[in-house]
Amino acid sequence: MKYLVTPALPYVNGPLHLGHLLENIQANIFVRALRMAGEEVLYVCGADSHGTPIEISAAQAGVAPADYVQSWQGVYQKCFARFGIEFDNGFGSTHTDLNKKHAELIFERLKKAGDITVKEVDQLFDPKAGRFLPDRLIRGECPKCGAQDQYGDSCEKCGSTYRPTELKNPKSTLSGETPVLKSSKHYFFELSHYTDKLKAWVKKPGVLQPEIQNSLKLWFEDGLKDWDISRDAPYFGFLIPGEKDKYFYVWLDAPVGYISLSEAAGGLDLWSQPDTQIIHFIGKDITYFHALFWPAMLMGAGYTLPAQIAIHGMLTINGEKMSKSRGTFILADKFTECVNPEALRYYFACKLSNGIEDIDLSFEDFVGRVNADLVNKIVNLISRTVPLLHKNYAGKPTQIAPDLAAEIAVLARQVEPNYRTRDTQQVVKDVVLIADLANKYLQDLSPWDAKKNTPEQAHEQLSTALWAGKVCIGLLKPILPEVALQTEKMLHVGELNFKNILDPLDANRQLEAYSRLFERIDMKKIEDLTLNPSPQTPSPVAGEGAGGEVSINDFMKIDLRAAQVLDAKTVEGSDKLISVNLDVGPLGKRHVFSGLRPHVKPEELVGKMVVLVANLAPRKMKFGVSEGMICAAGESVPHVILAEGSQPGERIH
Ligand code: 2FM
Ligand code: ZN
Repeated sequence: MKYLVTPALPYVNGPLHLGHLLENIQANIFVRALRMAGEEVLYVCGADSHGTPIEISAAQAGVAPADYVQSWQGVYQKCFARFGIEFDNGFGSTHTDLNKKHAELIFERLKKAGDITVKEVDQLFDPKAGRFLPDRLIRGECPKCGAQDQYGDSCEKCGSTYRPTELKNPKSTLSGETPVLKSSKHYFFELSHYTDKLKAWVKKPGVLQPEIQNSLKLWFEDGLKDWDISRDAPYFGFLIPGEKDKYFYVWLDAPVGYISLSEAAGGLDLWSQPDTQIIHFIGKDITYFHALFWPAMLMGAGYTLPAQIAIHGMLTINGEKMSKSRGTFILADKFTECVNPEALRYYFACKLSNGIEDIDLSFEDFVGRVNADLVNKIVNLISRTVPLLHKNYAGKPTQIAPDLAAEIAVLARQVEPNYRTRDTQQVVKDVVLIADLANKYLQDLSPWDAKKNTPEQAHEQLSTALWAGKVCIGLLKPILPEVALQTEKMLHVGELNFKNILDPLDANRQLEAYSRLFERIDMKKIEDLTLNPSPQTPSPVAGEGAGGEVSINDFMKIDLRAAQVLDAKTVEGSDKLISVNLDVGPLGKRHVFSGLRPHVKPEELVGKMVVLVANLAPRKMKFGVSEGMICAAGESVPHVILAEGSQPGERIH
């Protein structure tokens, strides 16, 4: 049997953050564990390239959307690799000829099956921007649960999907205008044709977690609605066959990417063999697309259905939603500057199971588990014993104590099945238990104490503890691939897998000298992650300007906006800062600390139209958060630059 494993295909219009890593580390551990168990696994991922947000980001960066996507692909691939994540055939994209071919093929098959209908629909149109508004550019109240400030296609609070016209009090995020209704021809996928088949599929054991099955019941009770799969130009996507200005909605060709990426990696046949185990890892926010639309498309077009949709909860940081203004929106690259990426893999493994509850990255817990369990218990078994074996026994291990080995073997054997059910929380618990047993054994017998032991006894005790350390690291190899590799080299144990993990150490091979396998984490460094939020890197596309030059693309990355000062006050305890509240039109209100206090009186600013750097990363300061920068000119006596005659929120370029 062959496996196909996919994480969700991320939209590439911003750098990878820890939320992306939660899912990708979970999927990567799963793939590594399967491969370590001897399974054949294809593992693919790539950029979800289409849709309006990417089109708009590309326009802001001054490049074609396809180039924009391509430059992010390289950035993602490198960043993932730092966390030990490498996909078969690299990090691909949905914007390929192959994906177009598959999207068209599936569309044609659905059409043939009578599942595609065409209807005139009233759509929201921004009269100021002169374009139909895609779901993501409209915000308003969720028609189901009433949550405020939700996108036009689905609600982040209750997970339901709807049409943008169903949203209450809609506003265009392009211009801030209330959109008007305009009629246009749209294509629909008649999802309800698949109600019975879908009902049967979601009930199949193992396909969905029980909590998800329950929420799906409600969706079935409401009746499955037809799904609008087309979007009017301008749009970045694939043209619908036979149309000149209508495109497939990004969510139509995005999951098709799973198929085209498989084909590019040599595994197209996985989609036609009935016994393939197709496993999609996703966050619970995109359940509807993966548990209803996608399987229905596959049913209609005649492909193998996913064997499992492995759904995880959302990541919170210290108990709160990731947030730019709180500094907890932590970018993946920034994280690697401060901490060994495998520490994050270890921590997520400690927290993840087959459940869908949110996963909290608590800094205290993170540092505690890595230092107290991974370093002081697990790695300790190796760092303590290897130097002593070198000192007293020419660096060679001997036989191991059978009783302890038998006890450890029992625990070790339950690890592989837990990886298969994604219960890495239990995997780590069992490994820590093994480490506890071995550490207690070391502590009780004290092989470094000549009064307690003969040299032969001490040799066996050190070798047993080292063997236990090897078993622990071997069992954690899917989670800590780099540490495992270093251990394999140090102990000359070859490539560890679930079959050879319990093998004794080779008494005839000299161990390498101990070199540090894992550093303790310094709490201070982690705290710095949130105190100095990652700078925003809106686009990797650039213009590597030589010397002091920047390209026009680089310049376009800076989002300068006209902003009207609502109020400005001195800041108690600071003789440099002014606290300023600004109206930035469609971007809303912003608060900024300006360092102009020595030169400008706060009251002089009130009512002025200033120039705001609107996409500067929010900065947490002693007095609060600053969400941008007010531009000034002049070196020694700066004065504020005014954008007189502009409207709040207008872009300055
Ligand atoms: O929600 C998202 O980030 C989407 N880009 C996920 C797409 S998964 C698949 F369908 F491609
Ligand atoms: Zn809702």
